[in-house]
Amino acid sequence: MAKKVTKAIFPVAGLGTRFLPATKSVPKEIMTLVDRPLIQYAIDEARAAGIKEFIFVTSRGKGALEDYFDHAPVLEQELRSKGKTELLETLKNTNMDSGAIAYIRQHKALGLGHAVWCARRLIGNEPFAVILPDDVIAAEKPCLQQMVEAYNETGGNMVAAMEVHPERSSSYGMLDVDDDQGELVKIRGMVEKPKTEDAPSNLAVIGRYILSPNVLKNLNQLKSGSGGEIQLTDAIAAELTQGHDVYGYRFKGQRFDCGSKSGFLQATVSFGLARDELRDDLYAYLQDVMMIDKAAQ
Ligand code: G1P
Repeated sequence: MAKKVTKAIFPVAGLGTRFLPATKSVPKEIMTLVDRPLIQYAIDEARAAGIKEFIFVTSRGKGALEDYFDHAPVLEQELRSKGKTELLETLKNTNMDSGAIAYIRQHKALGLGHAVWCARRLIGNEPFAVILPDDVIAAEKPCLQQMVEAYNETGGNMVAAMEVHPERSSSYGMLDVDDDQGELVKIRGMVEKPKTEDAPSNLAVIGRYILSPNVLKNLNQLKSGSGGEIQLTDAIAAELTQGHDVYGYRFKGQRFDCGSKSGFLQATVSFGLARDELRDDLYAYLQDVMMIDKAAQ
């Protein structure tokens, strides 16, 4: 049986330039879908998958992220004294146990592979998960939990996978499929952001990974790849040349690309509609908008 996955890396060092001017003072990961920051969705997913140690790879200007996970005794006391127990519970869910969370700085923006490599000493010789908080996945069973269950059977390395339109391949790590078993896909190669004509399939990597510590060793050796950055995709592809297994996992759920404005808005609407207290109002509003739109045509 595969070794238990208890550590997760959250690469959150990006500047979030696509969301300027908001990201001038607010880390992108603190931006909210309805009323919860992006990072909270990632943390909840990790917890559901059995993660106990949370490693954030940060950069300058991400202080609000660290504050977010601190206990807020004054606020908690205020809510307690006013009997606002539900809000108090919500707030407590954001607290992390002492020692369960670590922050490490990525001093230079050298790419996702480099960000993960920065956490190598905290990972040691254990398998670990990587969650990219920009990829928000709505699912009955959280995506990483689905993957951990599959990984417990397979071992090796596993990446979340999803079919994308061929024209979108230059935005993703793309998988070269060896054996397609449906949910599970055995991989023989991976390419970071290929042109459409060079993509080995239309199966893309989505931001959830379970990786063997050997990937960190591969990152030691890597030179910069696609876009002049040190790519995690290349370090995982190196596993294959060393005879180790890599699987794609077609998760069940809906993925939102919250690294883009359109994806962020779609996620906002979708998560809004999923909330009992918001659904009716929001739905009525969306219907009105659609009607006005139709009438205008
Ligand atoms: C990163 C990875 C890419 C992956 C994508 C998923 O790219 O490098 O392989 O497909 O996340 O969202 P980024 O979107 O950070 O450029």
